[in-house]
Amino acid sequence: MMRIKIKALLENPQIGSEVLIKGWVRTFRSNRFIAINDGSTINSVQAVIDFEKEDENELKRIATGASIEVVGNVVESQGSGQSIEIVVKSFNILGDANPEEYPLQPKKHSLEYLREIAHLRPRTNTFAAILRVRHAMTFAIHEFFNNRGFYNIHTPLITATDAEGAGEAFQVTTMDLKNVPLNDDKEVDYKQDFFGKETSLAVTGQLEAELAALGLSEVYTFGPTFRAENSNTTRHLAEFWMIEPEVAFADNNDNMDLAEAMLKYCVQYALDNCKEDLEFLNKRLQDEDKSKPQIERAGDLFEKLEFVANNDFERITYTEAVQILRNSKPNKKKKFQFLVDEWGIDLQSEHERFLVEKHFKKPVIISDYPANIKAFYMKLNDDGKTVKAMDILFPGIGEIVGGSEREERHDVLTQKIKDQNIPMESVWWYLDTRKFGTVPHSGFGLGFERLMLFVTGMGNIRDVIPFPRTPKNAEF
Ligand code: 4AD
Ligand code: MG
Repeated sequence: MMRIKIKALLENPQIGSEVLIKGWVRTFRSNRFIAINDGSTINSVQAVIDFEKEDENELKRIATGASIEVVGNVVESQGSGQSIEIVVKSFNILGDANPEEYPLQPKKHSLEYLREIAHLRPRTNTFAAILRVRHAMTFAIHEFFNNRGFYNIHTPLITATDAEGAGEAFQVTTMDLKNVPLNDDKEVDYKQDFFGKETSLAVTGQLEAELAALGLSEVYTFGPTFRAENSNTTRHLAEFWMIEPEVAFADNNDNMDLAEAMLKYCVQYALDNCKEDLEFLNKRLQDEDKSKPQIERAGDLFEKLEFVANNDFERITYTEAVQILRNSKPNKKKKFQFLVDEWGIDLQSEHERFLVEKHFKKPVIISDYPANIKAFYMKLNDDGKTVKAMDILFPGIGEIVGGSEREERHDVLTQKIKDQNIPMESVWWYLDTRKFGTVPHSGFGLGFERLMLFVTGMGNIRDVIPFPRTPKNAEF
């Protein structure tokens, strides 16, 4: 007999038919009711056994966490909470789970505890829901770009350029760290290393995406990204996934339009396709809210998502943002940790949160930042001091997207590379695209886990990626 997945069974139950289901025991009540889940849906199916007919030793093996296959008849359910159940004809335990040792019990575990047993998290309702939404968001992103004629580009994960200029890269080497070869100047001799030069894991795929866009017009990357920033926050991972579109013949306004459309598409996709999982996650949030003071409450997840899907984002320049912040209450009352005074400061997350959550109460796109706080590749404005950058800030998240129009003028770009002491021999190929057939072009990066935080309403980025990598943590 062919196995039927629980999702398919619940969506189209054939009352009276015989089915084979396989999954993991969630609960076993009254020696009679087995809740079985196979991960295809948040819903478990109830299998009912006649314990008087079964072997006592076999019955004992039906424990939370055990894997099981069941053959039985589909009937309308007697109990409330489910429409159908399965009357068991035969069952077979595929793998035992000793209740004395199995770390997951049929009760609510803390997210902190679950992080310590991340290898078993996919067996919980919360993480299975998150992983299904993560899949849906991946699919939505590919669908969004495919519908618009973009090509997906695979950019290298090992690189010899520090594209963001932040020096936060993980080194890649095969050198013996106990016996590192030195050159005549007593510096590390990377010529003897695997690639014959100093290399690291990519902090972005942007530069290579630009090369592809300047031939294919519209491309995007969707890949792992690595940053060795030692910031132990609920918003940072050392390994995260980034989506980076790059568009030829597009300026920074087109760039903002694309990013806003993409975010709305993803949020709408989740509303349309992840209803049951989001309802489950929302219920979790509402339960947690009950024990929180008013200002810390997450509020209703669906309201938040629908608001973003249906309202235009606010668009302001950095200069306008600084003006608002300078005159704001928390600044005047010295409530900000970093007071906003002079034009040119980098905005801190407390400032971003004020703008989004208190002032505008909606997503905000900030553009035209000071050149000297942004990366070398951003296009210089005519004022000579700002660049055509744009960051999108989301409620509860902060920065979710960062991007810009790119400097396409060969002479201006060469000067910026010199000013920032970037070795010319590491970016000659990037400059070549400005030498031959250069065009205005723009792009941005979306942090996939930050999108996941927003869509699921989760509070910690470690809980929206299957196996998080953070400082001092690379288990599993
Ligand atoms: O703003 P960032 O650093 O921009 C870039 O890397 C550009 N090359 C993108 C481009 O224009 N093609 O990073 C982009 C986004 C951020 O807005 C944030 O959402 C996410 O990536 N991000 C992180 N997410 C999780 N953990 C981290 N450590 C992150 N650093 C950035
Ligand atoms: Mg950024």
